[in-house]
Amino acid sequence: MNDNVQQIKEKLNISDVISGYLRLTKAGVNYKALCPFHNEKTPSFMVSPSRQSWHCFGCGIGGDIFTFVEKIEGIEFIDTLKILAEKAGVELEYGDPKARSEKDHLYEICESAAQFFITSISNANPILDYLRKRGLNNETIDEWRIGYAPDSWDSLLSFLLKKGYRENEIEKAGLIIQAPRLRQGFGGQASSKFQVPKYHDRFRNRLMFPIFDTSGRVVAFSGRTMNEIISSRTESFETGKYINSPETILYSKSRILYGFDRAKTDIRKNDAAILVEGQMDVILPWQDGVRNIIATSGTALTEEQLTIIKRLTGNLIMAFDMDDAGFRATKRGIDLANEQGFNISVLRLESGKDAADFVKDNPGKFQEIIGKSEPIMSYYFKEIFRQFSPDKLEGKKIIALNLLSEIKRMPSAIERSSWIRELGLRLGVSESDLKEEMERLETHETDINDIPSRSVSGPNEPAAKKTRKEILSERLLALLLKKTDSIAETVKVAAFMPTRDFEFLSAFLENNGNFSQIRSAIPADWRSRLDFLYMLGDFELSKANSDFDLGKEVIFITKEIEREHYKESLLKIGNEISRCEANGSNSDSMTNEFQNISKKLYQLNEKEKDKKI
Ligand code: UTP
Ligand code: MN
Repeated sequence: MNDNVQQIKEKLNISDVISGYLRLTKAGVNYKALCPFHNEKTPSFMVSPSRQSWHCFGCGIGGDIFTFVEKIEGIEFIDTLKILAEKAGVELEYGDPKARSEKDHLYEICESAAQFFITSISNANPILDYLRKRGLNNETIDEWRIGYAPDSWDSLLSFLLKKGYRENEIEKAGLIIQAPRLRQGFGGQASSKFQVPKYHDRFRNRLMFPIFDTSGRVVAFSGRTMNEIISSRTESFETGKYINSPETILYSKSRILYGFDRAKTDIRKNDAAILVEGQMDVILPWQDGVRNIIATSGTALTEEQLTIIKRLTGNLIMAFDMDDAGFRATKRGIDLANEQGFNISVLRLESGKDAADFVKDNPGKFQEIIGKSEPIMSYYFKEIFRQFSPDKLEGKKIIALNLLSEIKRMPSAIERSSWIRELGLRLGVSESDLKEEMERLETHETDINDIPSRSVSGPNEPAAKKTRKEILSERLLALLLKKTDSIAETVKVAAFMPTRDFEFLSAFLENNGNFSQIRSAIPADWRSRLDFLYMLGDFELSKANSDFDLGKEVIFITKEIEREHYKESLLKIGNEISRCEANGSNSDSMTNEFQNISKKLYQLNEKEKDKKI
């Protein structure tokens, strides 16, 4: 189903579909229209072809092609899927009620495919040479059932057909895909003589790693390109280094941990699980004698995966390439693990190297460096102090906010206060100030739910639910994306921004405002929000008249955010004071703080007045 959605999105252009319902007018690279979902006189409904999304800045709703059709037609998702599939010329696969026996069939197919790939690697010397060069011995290749998918459009397909399986089953096992329509006929001309097959192998000229479920059955594959070893007729260089099976009824990415079936007894025995990124990073340490090791296969750790690990151990050792921008994606997995009460440590490998590289270069040493892993918090300290300098106020703020939000998450009060002490020393700030700041920080717990992660992207929450500060902060980020040199102004109010916006700001700083870099650095399910911010920026600019000054607007918004922050604080403290008074406890310190903040607010207002005069 997910696959269908993707296919449809690739084939259809959002502005074509929407223009079937609305009159779109061009606005820069985007389109504008009067919003069909609320009454308005000036258009605030925007369509972004490059982002394949839409958003109404008047009523606050948005989404993708699917949500649009769902809403405008007033129909269910499943009917939308039918309509759009037909428009796109995509054939839909439906769930089968006979799933049980179907499952058994798919296991058989995956197992046969694994055997086929193993047979074919035994005849592929260059591939075996490659594996030896990477440090794998024969026993390891056998144990992990590593194979090779030949450089052919249909070798697996015809093998499986000969064994009596049907095309639609093989497709459901994720092993073949429908031929792109381009290939139906040569030279662009339909030809009845040369019937190009409807299906072809998904994996071509790839090193094949079977993916096993917790009981060791093959349920999917991950295929690494071998284009650098064997020049390919069927696989282009543009495709990913790895291609994986799609989600099937046997294989759910969010639940599988590569190597888990082989590692489970060792995880229990060692009371620790070592987490790495890829197949090779599991296999080489395994060969090196470290067997409590599993991989997330390049995706973020999920709650389900953690639950599976938790049954065996509460200790996680992350052995990732930590300089990788992908760390941001890992970060949320770590947060989840933290919240689940895991004790997390980090193994630092030399920059740019992963566990597989380490074992190859230092055979017999992996166990030893595992012993040198450090608590995640000291890792965070080192990283943030490396990225930002505590000499300037901006840097101090960013460092404090980043680390305080991590410290706040720690389940143990003793640990929390010892890290606060450390932070205070290094920043030259008093512990009590830091504690106070930490109390005020919003918790991150909602991060995952904050941003819709459904494939239908876009901020679907209605604008009415956002606070004024949130709206301002969002606008600020949107404008910052259009005027990246406003960063210094923006950072000044970083402390007052909602946590998730603050995290965007960190990503922005780390990537020097480069949009595509930011986009790849942040977790995948934040991207729709980034796209939304980008569109919002376009929208703001499209509304602006000729004397609009982006820089001035940024300053204006930062002031508003500051003001809003003080107002919110006053409200909060005011409530606390009344609570204290109601139950007869002392409220002096709060009253003091109340006065301080209201003074700041007053000063801010005065300054504004001065400027206006
Ligand atoms: P890496 O790019 O770090 O690859 O991706 P690697 O494991 O070091 O591979 P080698 O050493 O070059 O052979 C880490 C993991 O992320 C997944 C794979 O599971 C991979 O092992 N991945 C990576 C993908 O699924 N798709 C990709 O395009 C890249
Ligand atoms: Mn590697």
